[in-house]
Amino acid sequence: MSDRRVLVRGERAAHGGAVVAHEGGRTFMVHYALPGELVEVEVVGRRGGVFQARAERVVEASEDRVAARCPHFGECGGCHWQHALYARQLELKRQVVADAWRRAGLRLPPESPVLGMDEPWRYRIRGEFQAVECGGRVSFGFHRLRSHQVLPIATCPIHDRRIERAALAFGQAATELGRRGLQSLLLTVEPTGPGLLWRVQEMGRRPGATDAELAARAAELVPDLVLLEDSIGLEFWGLTFRVRSDTFVQTNYRQMLVLYQQVLDMLAPGPEDEVLDLYSGIGTIALVVARQAASVTAVEENPTAVRLAALNARINQLDNVQALPGRVEEVLRGIRAGRHRAVVLDPPRAGCEPAALAELLRLGPERLVYVSCDPATHARDLAQLVRGGYRVRRAAVVDMFPQTYHVESVAALDRAAGI
Ligand SMILES: C[S@@+](CC[C@H](N)C(=O)[O-])C[C@H]1O[C@@H](n2cnc3c(N)ncnc32)[C@H](O)[C@@H]1O
Repeated sequence: MSDRRVLVRGERAAHGGAVVAHEGGRTFMVHYALPGELVEVEVVGRRGGVFQARAERVVEASEDRVAARCPHFGECGGCHWQHALYARQLELKRQVVADAWRRAGLRLPPESPVLGMDEPWRYRIRGEFQAVECGGRVSFGFHRLRSHQVLPIATCPIHDRRIERAALAFGQAATELGRRGLQSLLLTVEPTGPGLLWRVQEMGRRPGATDAELAARAAELVPDLVLLEDSIGLEFWGLTFRVRSDTFVQTNYRQMLVLYQQVLDMLAPGPEDEVLDLYSGIGTIALVVARQAASVTAVEENPTAVRLAALNARINQLDNVQALPGRVEEVLRGIRAGRHRAVVLDPPRAGCEPAALAELLRLGPERLVYVSCDPATHARDLAQLVRGGYRVRRAAVVDMFPQTYHVESVAALDRAAGI
């Protein structure tokens, strides 16, 4: 066996889709392995004192190992766990979240559910593709694992099939029209309608500039879809929203409903409650909560999303929603302590700024529901809130991203009595 080839036994899953292994005093992060498996790995790099590796040969396979569904798996950087039975993926995600909480000095409540999908495929309603040119042909694809190189893709079984077809159509249209300098393509499809929102980024053109000729040719290739460049509709629970390419949308529509139901159950907004929805995007959670609460104040830094949140409130005739522009850590400074009984927050991966947490502690709501797509920053921020006098009452892991390492978790906190 060469120096770069090592035989190791997988131990625990780490956040990032690798399995930790030790051999000869060295630590390895092994991709495409499972805990318990004996695998021959190829070392592909070193970060700090840790060797990055990929399993090249499985010597003793886990009984949870399955054949990956996608022909690009192993080359494409988008999926990390397709080789694991879905039930095992959910267990691994629970363990990753529990480990993050433990490292932050917290205990994930043992009864916390892990809410997976019945059909963990074809769930993404939004896809961002990178362009690649080869011999005059333009294709769209994804970055290879831990690389900036683009892998053209023919199929992606975690995306809505219409997105897959549209990406191929845009590639064909760009090839036929001889387009050069395309960089990326963002596609979002209406979960319950025929609308397809598209945005291409071309070298030397301002972000958001359109390419009508390209879209017209792509539209001919996917005649069942209505190509839109401004906004599309998102509908659920009797509410209607407008979504744009430059605003966040939950990429897994089916699990978004599971997540929002958890938020609603944990927050339990009542008719007397004034509620804050922080990092509110286009106001989806705000509007759901507003139907049960006295009022909701939504705070969001993206001005387009703030405008859409206000528009979405009007479309749904909810006049008890106020959308405030600005960064949470700054906007909260202007809010009176004690006014809001309940707060929901859903920050990006980096979590909350320390100033935002300090402001939350000053406001002192009775109930907090914290949604997160990064277990480490979630646990870090929850620990800070616990030090500030809150206690974790409930938690759940919602699998928004099957086949990948990404994991969404949500926690409900109460202000401990006397604080
Ligand atoms: C994970 S998304 C949540 C959106 C929304 N809750 C939903 O379910 O669609 C996070 C949002 O926070 C916004 N954001 C990021 N940093 C922010 C900050 N410091 N203050 C306010 N909003 C911020 C982003 O623009 C994005 O819309």
